[in-house]
Amino acid sequence: MASIFHPLLSAYLLLLLPLVVAQSSAGDIGVGSSIEAKRDAKPWVSPSSDFAFGFHLLETNNDLFLLAIWYNKIPSRTIVWYANGEKPAPTRSKLELTADRGLVLSDPQGQLIWRSEFATGDVAFARMNDTGNFVVYDSGSERLWESFDNPTDTLLPTQVFKWGGVLSSRHKESNFSKGRFQFRLLPDGNAVLNTKNMESSFVYFAYYISGTYDQANSSNSGFQVRLDQDGSFYVLRKNNQRFSLNSDGFVPSTDYYYTATLNFDGVLTLSRYPKYPSGSNRNWSVSTTIPDNICTTRFERYGSGTCGYNSICTLKANKRPQCNCPPGYSLSDANDEYGNCQADFMQGCEADALSPRGDLYELAELQNTDWPTNDYEVISPSTVNDCKAHCLQDCLCIVAEYNKGDCLKKTLPLPYGRQDVQVDTIAFVKVRKAEFAQKNPPIISTLYEKRYQNSLMILISVLLGSSVFVNFVFVGVLCLGSSFLYHRKIKRNHSNKNGIQSSLRYFNYKELEEATNGFKEELGRGSFGIVYKGIIKTDSEDLTRVAVKKLDRVVQDTDKEFRTEVNVIAQTHHRNLVKLLGYCDEGQSRMLVYEYLSNGTLASFLFGDLKPSWNQRTQIATGIARGLCYLHEECSPQIIHCDIKPQNILLDDYYDARISDFGLSKLLGIDQSFTHTAIRGTKGRNVSMDVGEEEKAILTDWACDCFLEGTVDALVENDADALSDKMKLERFVMVALWCIQEEISLRPTMKKVLLMLEEIIMVPALPLPCPSYISA
Ligand SMILES: *[C@@H]1O[C@H](CO)[C@@H](O)[C@H](O)[C@H]1NC(C)=O
Ligand SMILES: *[C@@H]1O[C@H](CO)[C@@H](O)[C@H](O)[C@H]1NC(C)=O
Ligand SMILES: *[C@@H]1O[C@H](CO)[C@@H](O)[C@H](O)[C@H]1NC(C)=O
Ligand SMILES: *[C@@H]1O[C@H](CO)[C@@H](O)[C@H](O)[C@H]1NC(C)=O
Repeated sequence: MASIFHPLLSAYLLLLLPLVVAQSSAGDIGVGSSIEAKRDAKPWVSPSSDFAFGFHLLETNNDLFLLAIWYNKIPSRTIVWYANGEKPAPTRSKLELTADRGLVLSDPQGQLIWRSEFATGDVAFARMNDTGNFVVYDSGSERLWESFDNPTDTLLPTQVFKWGGVLSSRHKESNFSKGRFQFRLLPDGNAVLNTKNMESSFVYFAYYISGTYDQANSSNSGFQVRLDQDGSFYVLRKNNQRFSLNSDGFVPSTDYYYTATLNFDGVLTLSRYPKYPSGSNRNWSVSTTIPDNICTTRFERYGSGTCGYNSICTLKANKRPQCNCPPGYSLSDANDEYGNCQADFMQGCEADALSPRGDLYELAELQNTDWPTNDYEVISPSTVNDCKAHCLQDCLCIVAEYNKGDCLKKTLPLPYGRQDVQVDTIAFVKVRKAEFAQKNPPIISTLYEKRYQNSLMILISVLLGSSVFVNFVFVGVLCLGSSFLYHRKIKRNHSNKNGIQSSLRYFNYKELEEATNGFKEELGRGSFGIVYKGIIKTDSEDLTRVAVKKLDRVVQDTDKEFRTEVNVIAQTHHRNLVKLLGYCDEGQSRMLVYEYLSNGTLASFLFGDLKPSWNQRTQIATGIARGLCYLHEECSPQIIHCDIKPQNILLDDYYDARISDFGLSKLLGIDQSFTHTAIRGTKGRNVSMDVGEEEKAILTDWACDCFLEGTVDALVENDADALSDKMKLERFVMVALWCIQEEISLRPTMKKVLLMLEEIIMVPALPLPCPSYISA
């Protein structure tokens, strides 16, 4: 006991203390030291305090941290190395120096995020060196791991970039995931810049090659890239000669801090920052860019270059690229100015064919502009006017370029677009005239537009009832049906003209007249004709109720065609489809005989006195999705409904949804299948069919806004069941919002819709902004 307070021991301890302090101020970090990821976390600083190693809070997310090294004396945060760019660390993650694994970064649950990888050895300590190199040592002061050997996007003075070394760009200025660009020192001695394919990491051709490669005498080849303390940046050849990477006019000086960084836009820059005088208004300035002009740099063959497809690159004063979309085009992702551009209108041979006749396009003229690849035809000799005319007349032509008597026709997608005084070409971009401008892409033709608007009418009318989300799904379904229609109409026209064999029963007119008691009791009326209640005798002599649909405007001229179509319908078997039992085609009379469903249409159920419950509504929505999925993807030939609406959904004894009227659009000819089906009996607010564009926009915006603001509750009013099932509600709303995306290609297939509704796959985050239906 007493020995603990032995005066000698105390003196020893006192002596020891200053030593410990001295050691830690020298920058050594002992095994067991750690830093927690939080706002005020103290980094490990180098002795001169030029560099710090610690957690950097991401600008884009205030709960995520990057383990990084930065210039510690420069007020604007300059990150020169980072560990976990792909996987930012949540608050309270921990970095620890361990004896066996070196640096270990783990999340609050203890899951590994990143570690310093090295072969073998026991860690004794680590050090944030004054050069900006973080080094992990063993007890013999051998280096086990160092940040200089694991560079990210930046080289620092004294750092040696060796054979096989790779710098990878960030994804964006403040997103540290790996981007598309690389700087590499190849084993053959060349330092190169290249793009790569993001999905496969396949490396594309280089857009910069140093040329430090000598076949005749390999001692002339490069073997290191170095940045010296005076800012000299060069490829060092084996024979110690230097190939300078500095731009003309660079004056070496040790009065600066330096970085050589491969930026997210593919430009490798050497930047410097004056070390003195402190307290003055200093900043980083770029002294060298490689390549000198990334906009006019030749990228080869694959990938989109620095700007996205269909974009135009111009070089800013700081020699970094700016990307702009051509007239009539806008960014595919409004938040990504370096991303792809897409036309605000429909074009191409298919779209042109659907449009009214006339000169659909005009040309936007861009001086000193070209897209140097993707020509599919050259007209030579040509005049400017001939060149323009050639492109206007050619539905494949997206852009024509004229250069000294040559006319080049180009097609999508257009990579490497650039505008620069060095470029001696005039580009003519085809843009749809305002009077033919149709919003891309939901409205493909006037006919299509009409159908589309109709679906919106239904949306609005039904939305204002109580069960919003079911109707959202309808709209999705409608959009999708329409998009399928567009893509597969032709296919279907050619499909399955075979077997008339089926269980289908033939009725003559008289039989059906009797069955319906002289077409007495009307069940409903739709775009195809009137439906009557009837009773027939089955083969086993039982009496059974049927619904007889009298078609009032069949277009098929011949009986054979009609029968073929009817047989296509008869071959469908699914529990969410109404079954066709028979038909009649006597003279001008064409009728279809369906099974009778006791609970009527969804429309009457939704707007009737008995409001469907949340469970019934979700069950119905899922049933409809299942039925459509079968029609689109499982039956052969595929059937596109073209007219999904609550009036065409019937409910069986168990209130399961059954789709009716599918396959009829073919029978009726496409332009006749549409009529204004008035929606009556809407509860709540009154909506007339003449509702203006404005109101539609507001409504869809409202729904989307509710979702974005997290107030989906408003969509189901006070439905307690729905509110207690919020996850499902949100999922359904999200699926619906996916289905009404303007961009057709974004809309999920019915199969995917179904899987999402059934929670088998995740609903992906929605693209922003909300889809808007204000057509151009
Ligand atoms: C650490 O920095 C010093 C200069 O301060 C330098 O001489 C030394 O090589 C550096 N060590 C490592 C491992 O980077
Ligand atoms: C960075 O971008 C990638 C690719 O777009 C994305 O997956 C990732 O979530 C982004 N990271 C952050 C922190 O936003
Ligand atoms: C190759 O280069 C080395 C060093 O520059 C030189 O000594 C040698 O003579 C060269 N060999 C040939 C074959 O040129
Ligand atoms: C950096 O500072 C210098 C001197 O104060 C100034 O001339 C220069 O314009 C600044 N550059 C930038 C990019 O702010």
